[in-house]
Amino acid sequence: MCGIVGYTGTRQAYPVILKGLKRLEYRGYDSSGVALLKDGKLNVYKKKGKVADLEETMIGKVLDAHVGIGHTRWATHGEPSDRNAHPHSSASGKLAMIHNGIIENYALIKQELLNKGYTFTSDTDTEVLLNFIEDIQKNNNSTLEEALRIALKRVSGAYCILLIEQDNPDTIIAARKGSPLVIGIGKGEHFLASDASPIIEYTKEVVYVNDYELAIVKPDELILKNLGNEKITPYITKLDMELAAIEKGGYDHFMLKEIFEQPSTIFDCLRGRLDAKEGTIRMSGIDHNIDQLMNANRIMILACGTSWHAGLAAEYIIEELCRIPVEVEYASEFRYRNPIVNKGDVIIAISQSGETADTLVALEKAKENGAFIFGVVNAVGSSIARISNAGAYTHAGPEIGVASTKAFTGQLAVLMMMALSIAKHKGTVSHERYHSLLLELEEVPEKINAILKNASALKVIAEKYKGASDFLFLGRGYNFPIALEGALKLKEISYIHAEGYPAAEMKHGPIALVDENLPVVFIATKDAYHEKIVSNMQEIKARKGKIISIITEGDTTSTELSNDYFAIPPADELIAPILTVIPLQLLSYYVGTAKGVDVDKPRNLAKSVTVE
Ligand code: F6R
Repeated sequence: MCGIVGYTGTRQAYPVILKGLKRLEYRGYDSSGVALLKDGKLNVYKKKGKVADLEETMIGKVLDAHVGIGHTRWATHGEPSDRNAHPHSSASGKLAMIHNGIIENYALIKQELLNKGYTFTSDTDTEVLLNFIEDIQKNNNSTLEEALRIALKRVSGAYCILLIEQDNPDTIIAARKGSPLVIGIGKGEHFLASDASPIIEYTKEVVYVNDYELAIVKPDELILKNLGNEKITPYITKLDMELAAIEKGGYDHFMLKEIFEQPSTIFDCLRGRLDAKEGTIRMSGIDHNIDQLMNANRIMILACGTSWHAGLAAEYIIEELCRIPVEVEYASEFRYRNPIVNKGDVIIAISQSGETADTLVALEKAKENGAFIFGVVNAVGSSIARISNAGAYTHAGPEIGVASTKAFTGQLAVLMMMALSIAKHKGTVSHERYHSLLLELEEVPEKINAILKNASALKVIAEKYKGASDFLFLGRGYNFPIALEGALKLKEISYIHAEGYPAAEMKHGPIALVDENLPVVFIATKDAYHEKIVSNMQEIKARKGKIISIITEGDTTSTELSNDYFAIPPADELIAPILTVIPLQLLSYYVGTAKGVDVDKPRNLAKSVTVE
């Protein structure tokens, strides 16, 4: 949450920062701002609204500067407004700072500063931290770097901050704990950002800054230190990402592009790992730790949101194939309770961004208790990937649309391969079943292609139901998590209230909602539960609910019961969730766009939730 960008070098800083902010806008978009440093003068500009609103206010201003920082905000402390937007200026006006994270003990520090006579122009924790740093600098007569180090030892919470100082003309000082920071290394220039997307255009050499590290960044020099003032050698990695991957490529929205990328992202996810002909799955993270995984007393899956839904699907699949007990927990709950985690437990962490604060902290807690952490992560080099003992990347490429789509199907594919691999080693899956599931997995990209060819049919359905005020999504067994995911997608990007339920649970309460105005989406593909779900459809029809069903091609029973339906190619019930979710992603996309919602940046949301 919140995107930060910094630049120091020979180029004009403003255009680099502005472009970077646009790329990072998925992280927050309620206000934005920049601070530019030139000839000992600090100029701060900020504006409520999207980055485009800031851009408009900058027209006609003299923006010549070679050092600057910029921020796009997802509000935590203080409503979205010009005055709460970042960068913040210190009391003397000599420092400017941007921040991604939350300073948890800000109230205490603020009181201390108020007692000393400080006043504040915003409601943010960031302004408190900034003045705290300046106060230390003044009282100790210290450099900004020293003052920052002292201040950070006193604050609790999460931060990635960038600071510039009037009297320090070409330097950006940065620090991180719990919120991401990447530094791009150019020739005589450095780029700083929350992720690599603002950097990729200029350089592929980057340094991922770790927690409790400070960076002193000048055009020709990058110094990394820990909070104890010891120097650390920067570890330079090469970005494996192309600029095209973070651009819309002719699509109206990133979300649509990402939905349509799924045949290739799943192909990339399977490539080099799964060979159905040979009957092999090769994943080094699994192969090197197979004993640990197959002998787990229990597997616990920790994740949030859409990734949690992938975890729920994995619970059903792993228990079925591997006969290992699985528990799926919201990371945000796990971290605050007193969970039982024993040595011999395996934790699977699922995350697209690899930076979700709740998941990260939950993992730290589980690790302290001796659990083995296996990360299923999309963002390469992210914090969750790094904290994990082992893992497997989903290889879906950068996901920019705020609603997760291609990362979800990538997670399902990785978790499926993981379950099959463990089951084969454990001997809990028959030879025939193992081979047929491998073949089915290999066919997924082709089947997704077939679904996408009929996308326009979902546009028609979306038009018909876009006026509904509520939706119900029902599924059973392996498709129950997909019902939850369908409901979440619709809520996120159309602002229509939607609930996902196991279809059999409907009669225990939600059925009271059913009337002639309620669209009920059934995920009713041919599987072991099919007859049961057809009975549930009958129950809805008897109460005049409108049935939209996702069915298997050729299933005439379901078509007769449905007001509208969308057919997908036949698939094994364990594989079907990777397919059934695609029409639901498209349905919510088309409902959202028909309602005029900015589906890539729906209100109140942000990708990469780096605050609690
Ligand atoms: C929904 C969505 C969120 C994320 C959740 C976890 O479309 O994107 O629910 O799934 O915030 O994020 P990651 O997977 O990055 O840990």
